[in-house]
Amino acid sequence: DARAQEGGSAFSFTEVEAGIDETHHVAEGYDADILLRWGDGLFPDAPEFDPTAQTPAAQARQFGYNNDYVGYIPLEGSSEHGLLVVNHEYTNPHLMFPGLVTLVEGALTLNPLSKEQVDIEMAAHGGTVVEIRKVDGKWQVVRDGQYNRRITADTEMELTGPAAGHDRLKTNADATGTKVFGTINNCAGGVTPWGTYIMAEENIHGYFGGELPADHREAANYDRFGIPEGSYEWASFYDRFDVSKEPNEPNRFGYIVEVDVMDPNSMPKKRTALGRFKHEGAESIVAADGRVVFYLGDDERFDYVYKFVTSGTYNPDDRAANMDLLDEGTLYVAKFAEDGSLQWMPLVHGEGPLTEDNGFASQADVIIETRHAADLLGATKMDRPEDIQPNGVNGKVYVMLTNNTRREADQVDAANPRAENAFGHIIEIAEADGDFAATSGTWEVLLQCGDPAIAEVGATFSSATTENGWFGMPDNCAVDSLGRLWVSTDGNNPSDTGRTDGLWAVDTEGAARATSKLFFRVPVGAEMCGPLFTPDDETAFVAVQHPADGGDDWDGFGRVSYYEDLSTRWPDFDDAMPTRPSVVVITRQGGGKIAV
Ligand code: FEO
Ligand code: CA
Ligand code: CA
Ligand code: CA
Repeated sequence: DARAQEGGSAFSFTEVEAGIDETHHVAEGYDADILLRWGDGLFPDAPEFDPTAQTPAAQARQFGYNNDYVGYIPLEGSSEHGLLVVNHEYTNPHLMFPGLVTLVEGALTLNPLSKEQVDIEMAAHGGTVVEIRKVDGKWQVVRDGQYNRRITADTEMELTGPAAGHDRLKTNADATGTKVFGTINNCAGGVTPWGTYIMAEENIHGYFGGELPADHREAANYDRFGIPEGSYEWASFYDRFDVSKEPNEPNRFGYIVEVDVMDPNSMPKKRTALGRFKHEGAESIVAADGRVVFYLGDDERFDYVYKFVTSGTYNPDDRAANMDLLDEGTLYVAKFAEDGSLQWMPLVHGEGPLTEDNGFASQADVIIETRHAADLLGATKMDRPEDIQPNGVNGKVYVMLTNNTRREADQVDAANPRAENAFGHIIEIAEADGDFAATSGTWEVLLQCGDPAIAEVGATFSSATTENGWFGMPDNCAVDSLGRLWVSTDGNNPSDTGRTDGLWAVDTEGAARATSKLFFRVPVGAEMCGPLFTPDDETAFVAVQHPADGGDDWDGFGRVSYYEDLSTRWPDFDDAMPTRPSVVVITRQGGGKIAV
């Protein structure tokens, strides 16, 4: 790119001003249109959204809550007609259900949920597959699309791979250990080279309640995972979420889920070969020899970066031949050495410490307790690994590390260089010989995030980065077809910074390296998810999650006084409507590639 060679930014657009208000903002010359809102119908028979009379059955035919990962699967190679796949990570009952919050003895109190409300929550989880089409420059939802589908916390799924069928996965409802209902807390994800939809199960611990029987064999396993945490009320109505009644159920969650979107009746598969942990996402790339490499973050303070390399090779001419590639391969965990080298250590039963003596009788045990296995291998404890994105243009891999305020000075290492890391950082990996399937490589810190104007923060944005351009808490990211990095954030908290989350364009090449520019920002209380570009780079999809959340002054729809009495009913701005998480579609006015 000519500009990059001259040392300038590879991105051409006028920055948005950082700040905070009730709505979203995109760079001048672009449109940012609402495409899909929580409650929007996805089928011809879907009921209109009525927030005062919502039902589980209606929700199961409508777009779910808290859109997070957004993927685009072209139909016939088109950048103007395809399937949008969207994860619905979690639910915010105080923002969803009118009247759920009441004043009790002067304190705002969240009342217990009814069974019907829990069922609505379960139907608002999971994912959406929906056909979309660009007509006269504007994207539309195809409500009668033949592939349209909702996946929820009740959808029947198959467990496959090394842990499937193991005794530790068997329950009263499933003596085979291979059938499970639903997927939950699907954060980021991916689309495979063969066009399937990946949903990553992340913070599953919050859905389980009850108490394990004393000395239960899963006690250490669940303790390492934070199970049961019980922040949801599902265990009150469903025994399978109560570990005192179904102690093995949590071993059936925490996986990568693969969905064949071309068959709306296909059974999603939980691919256990990719490990069991708080999976952030699974972005992939085909290595030179045809094996497929998936990069996997475990989003917890002091947890690990993983990758999975398939045994088989990708066949671009035979979609069916790729459909079980995710059942066989090698899972690796990363060790980031102080000298800038990187080792990918295999998590293979019988190798190194992963033996019967240490409690691993088979590969199933290695999978079920992936974190424990990685502990024994001495993997590098990271500052919350989130989205990890391979870049096929420059051959590098980008690792988002959100933050870790619990890291103490004596726990600092080269790959996690700041104590009390409030703003996170981004690591750039170069695999050995440019081979994504390599078992070693090198790495460097691309960027330490935070406000560069505050010296103690230790941010390392380039001096060309403006006061609007810096960010903290990198979470999701995308690489466009020109190989340019885009980063979205979780937690540019207004009470700290007077600014919101958003989407930033981050230079990685030449003299402009580590320059960042603000392209889009979200309404008050929201978090920025997505982002995703169509193959022609003319459309960016972003997901605005939990607008209006986080305040402590709630009305029936969770209206907040979050920041200087600011609240929002985005995107409808209708007092009869709650605020709604929504997918926003960004296009250039008059057409053309974004930021070129
Ligand atoms: Fe759901 Fe790691 O963010
Ligand atoms: Ca995330
Ligand atoms: Ca991504
Ligand atoms: Ca997030």
